[in-house]
Amino acid sequence: MSTIESILKETRSFPPSDDFRRKAQISGMEAYNALCEQADDHYLSFWGDLARELIAWKKPFSRVLDDSNAPFFKWFDDGVLNVSYNCLDRHLPLNANKIALIFEADDGEVTRVTYSELHRRVCQFANGLKSLGVAKGDRVVIYMPMVIEAIVAMQACARIGAIHSVVFGGFSAGALRDRVQDAGAKVVITANEGLRGGKTVALKATTDEAFELGGCESVSSVVVYQRTNNGASKWTEGRDVWWHKLIEGQAEECEPEWVNAEDPLFILYTSGSTGKPKGIQHSTAGFLLGALNSFRWIFDYKPNDVYWCTADVGWITGHSYITYGPLGHGATQVIFEGVPTYPDASRFWRMIEKHKVSIFYTAPTAIRSLIKLGADLPAKYDLSSLRVLGTVGEPINPEAWMWYYEVVGGGRCPIVDTWWQTETGSAMIAPTPGAVPTKPGSCTLPLPGIMADIVDESGAPVEPGKGGFLVIKKPFPSLVRTIWGDPDRFRKTYFPDEFEGKYYLAGDSAHRDESGYFWIMGRIDDVLNVSGHRLGTMEIESALVANPLVAEAAVVGKPHDIKGEAVVAFVVLKGSRPSGDEARKVADNLKQWVAHEIGKIAQPDEIRFGENLPKTRSGKIMRRLLRSLARGEEIVQDVSTLENPQILAQLQEAAN
Ligand code: WT7
Repeated sequence: MSTIESILKETRSFPPSDDFRRKAQISGMEAYNALCEQADDHYLSFWGDLARELIAWKKPFSRVLDDSNAPFFKWFDDGVLNVSYNCLDRHLPLNANKIALIFEADDGEVTRVTYSELHRRVCQFANGLKSLGVAKGDRVVIYMPMVIEAIVAMQACARIGAIHSVVFGGFSAGALRDRVQDAGAKVVITANEGLRGGKTVALKATTDEAFELGGCESVSSVVVYQRTNNGASKWTEGRDVWWHKLIEGQAEECEPEWVNAEDPLFILYTSGSTGKPKGIQHSTAGFLLGALNSFRWIFDYKPNDVYWCTADVGWITGHSYITYGPLGHGATQVIFEGVPTYPDASRFWRMIEKHKVSIFYTAPTAIRSLIKLGADLPAKYDLSSLRVLGTVGEPINPEAWMWYYEVVGGGRCPIVDTWWQTETGSAMIAPTPGAVPTKPGSCTLPLPGIMADIVDESGAPVEPGKGGFLVIKKPFPSLVRTIWGDPDRFRKTYFPDEFEGKYYLAGDSAHRDESGYFWIMGRIDDVLNVSGHRLGTMEIESALVANPLVAEAAVVGKPHDIKGEAVVAFVVLKGSRPSGDEARKVADNLKQWVAHEIGKIAQPDEIRFGENLPKTRSGKIMRRLLRSLARGEEIVQDVSTLENPQILAQLQEAAN
């Protein structure tokens, strides 16, 4: 509640400098408003014109939107294109020797790759995939560290029309197996090991473990990129193939597979409030258009910029704003294998100075942890190359915003707080920095063409200052097309009957201030946002209950200084309730268990044991009560409907 109050009191506003505004693509509020009006009045031609301007089509489309089978919308559906062609080939005539990627490895070694070199590498690897029998529409799981080859693998899939599904390298064998199985992948691409913060990450060994769990029978080949000299612990002949062997002798040209606009480009799994992770399916043309258009608008991108997004390609941010948006524009970008705190907390600032980064895009959790580790460190570096600073993943608290603005940006760089989701494919609400004045903690106004609004349960708009559901009232090109293999869940989750199936329900609550600025308040469902990553409480509960010691578990979030939210698990064991040292030991085991089942990001920060969980007489767990308990708040809820009020006392304290 206190954050909402402080945000409501936030009145500071920062317009762009005259100089920034004058040189910007969308220059001043008149220009921004004119684009919004154009979208309001001629919605389809607004998007149609952008699609013609920004995408190189093999065959042009004749229709912008087909909404005859809503909410399964189709955009530009008789158009033919290839995303890899748009990201590579089309830059070659003028910019073959322009640097595409500046790769900085964990140990600081730098490798530069030009557009022609990247094109060559993508073509060779695409031919390698074809030699394994991968064809249009096949699914390829990519389980890689943040190295050049991760981007090559994604682009190679796009080039041959295969559907990639990137699984974050921090996920466990179980999570990898679930995704491989759900997608029915034909090939898995991984590395022998990854390198992060001076430590190795056992990617190939985890992949082997995933196969041992069963369910990966659809996979015929595992391609292994050799990142370290350690080789691979195990080798399955006939299935495993080294990346360098696969590309040996492959042609350096590969004709793009021309696909339809609506053919899927990729699937990316994300957490929902219930059940298993959802395979968010994105289209080819609509996704590409969203990435291209938002990239130039939110960052005011110019061809001589040096852009750096610190995300991993395992998340949507890495898809839209590393692999596709920047390459589609022929940009020069930094990609980084390591972590912000290794070898020390100056890593980001040193890298900005060294590579003369002009656009920097990171997450509030990284900003908060770097403030804590050295608020004065940026001043030791020359950060004068910076011109635009971005954030994404969770609300940024005004204090962190001000520090980012003043200490990192020298009071000169607009902060673009970008609100969007895996499902939206591209930024939806964010300032176009040469026009929209920014306010600390607000993602400001929707991009032109995005019909965002805040409504109540009945779908009616709420007045300024009042909270409600964040919705998008018209379909837009980069919106999720369906949940892989589960169209029914797609419709129910995102286009619920409450709004007559017309509005896209984002799952966030928000309010607007008097100037119409959006302030995101948090999720409306049982989804946690830990360090900018979405975790379903159900997933963590299922993992806990899968442990032989556990009878029942409920997971809630509580505010955390750096991570945004921390994971608190309330657990009932099959045996008696443990206490003291024993409770600590079991809690430690359960934490490691969850890290092993899902990944370290999902590991509970705190575990509390009870003989039972607080339940209503009908057996429903009272989650609101658990939330208050986790926060150490006084219980003000009505507990008269509680079956077992005596267990509240047991749940006051953490076991660890
Ligand atoms: C959820 C989506 C978009 C890429 C990273 C996360 C939260 C995201 C912001 C922001 C406030 C934000 C929302 C959203 N979120 N950006 N700028 N301000 N909240 O993608 O894993 O799909 O998570 O992240 O709650 O629904 P994701």
